[in-house]
Amino acid sequence: MRRRVIAGNWKMYKTLAETRAFFTTFNPLVANSKHCDIVVGPPFTAISTALDSVKGTSIAIAGQNVSWSQDGAFTGEVSAHMLAEAGCRYVIIGHSERRQLFRETDDNVAKKTLISLESGLTPIVCLGERQEDREAGLTEEVLGRQFTGGPGALTPDEFSRILLAYEPVWAIGTGRTATPEIAADAHAFLRRCAGEKFSIRHASALRILYGGSVKPDNIQGLMAQEELDGALVGGASLDPKSFAAIVNFE
Ligand code: 13P
Repeated sequence: MRRRVIAGNWKMYKTLAETRAFFTTFNPLVANSKHCDIVVGPPFTAISTALDSVKGTSIAIAGQNVSWSQDGAFTGEVSAHMLAEAGCRYVIIGHSERRQLFRETDDNVAKKTLISLESGLTPIVCLGERQEDREAGLTEEVLGRQFTGGPGALTPDEFSRILLAYEPVWAIGTGRTATPEIAADAHAFLRRCAGEKFSIRHASALRILYGGSVKPDNIQGLMAQEELDGALVGGASLDPKSFAAIVNFE
């Protein structure tokens, strides 16, 4: 059985004071939650405060983005080495907001994934179709293309060290969750892609998180699907009680 991962993506929310306040409430609520890996992705400015706040717990911290370059004159960017040195263990790569609003390509995603692995981070590589793709019957084509151009470009060993997050764009921040069956179909498709590109062993070990309007009241239905190995949670991860309720889905 694959170990589940519940990850929160705070996006551009929370000051340092809010970060401290979050963990003061959150930590005791998940202190006995051993059934899954717990990850929180604060904005860059709050990473060090978040790391201080989770000392002595099993909660891991993630960057929300990373540069594809090791270093250099790239104003505004943060490197994988910097994230790892700061104490992050994970990094979110290729989120649809980065793809849509900041024009990230599959090639960017592949480079960012590789450089993150070189720094010892665990990439959470996001992919997902838009509403219009789904309506046009192009879901698998889009997911297949994102898979091939991003995680599919890794070596088998590199691939075994990443997580995928299936985040249908139409479900992000909209309150429209994919039904557990729709999510499971997409996960099964991505697992088939992994099997074809790498091996059955890689496919069955791959952990795929679902993201898109995950809330305390739908997490159980989602996690009842064997294909879903966890969740990447946006809005509901901002409130410590609601995120703890998601973590404690069992
Ligand atoms: P919401 O949970 O707010 O829909 O966001 C999902 C997401 O984008 C997580 O990365």
